[in-house]
Amino acid sequence: MRSKIVAGNWKMNKTLTETNTLLAELTGKLPDTDAEVMVAPTFVNLAAAVQDVKSSSIEVIAQNMHFAENGAYTGEISADMLLDIGVNTVIIGHSERRAYFGETDEILSKKIISALDKNLRVVFCFGEELEDRKSDNHFNVVSNQLKNGLFNLKPEAWTKIVLAYEPVWAIGTGETASPEQAQEMHSFIRKTIANEYTTKIAEAVSILYGGSVKPANAKEIFSKVDVDGGLIGGAALNADDFIAIIKAI
Ligand code: 13P
Repeated sequence: MRSKIVAGNWKMNKTLTETNTLLAELTGKLPDTDAEVMVAPTFVNLAAAVQDVKSSSIEVIAQNMHFAENGAYTGEISADMLLDIGVNTVIIGHSERRAYFGETDEILSKKIISALDKNLRVVFCFGEELEDRKSDNHFNVVSNQLKNGLFNLKPEAWTKIVLAYEPVWAIGTGETASPEQAQEMHSFIRKTIANEYTTKIAEAVSILYGGSVKPANAKEIFSKVDVDGGLIGGAALNADDFIAIIKAI
């Protein structure tokens, strides 16, 4: 059985004080669940966040990392730095990294390889822009993102991969993909992986949906067979909303 996962991507939100407060609320209110619960605070607060969740089942994950082992990369963070503070999972390829920070498929592939080399788990994000969907090119775009990011990996590497389909037009816009659109794409993603690798690998990988998931729509989206959870932005910044989304799974 593949894991169910609810992950909160806090993006560039929450000071240290706010991080401590939100994590105290989350750990206090966390319901009993089979799902893995993850939160991704900003780099500067990761070490404190790891301590904050120590006695709970919440996992603290990173929003990004550099592909180099170390060296002259001012402002960047390495895999070893994450591991050393107890962070074992990293988000790679978020559309905001692609759009605002020039992260190409080639750079993302290097990051994924470096992360896996260090035995980090990778939450790989991808998804089409509105124009792609309007021009009926969304399946092509997604299959290229999968191919360029992941299809050079050995089959055994896939146990360390989580996928997050995040249509760019649904991120922070309040407009979610319909549950049917999410299911259609997730099923396409699984088939694409099965064609490239095996059905077993495709069936074992968790595929999260991201893009304006809220307490009001989470249950319906999560009810789809190929949707294994969510990568949550705005609604992860409020404890009650995030808890409600966890309960929805
Ligand atoms: P929103 O939930 O705010 O749309 O953000 C989704 C997202 O980008 C998570 O990574």
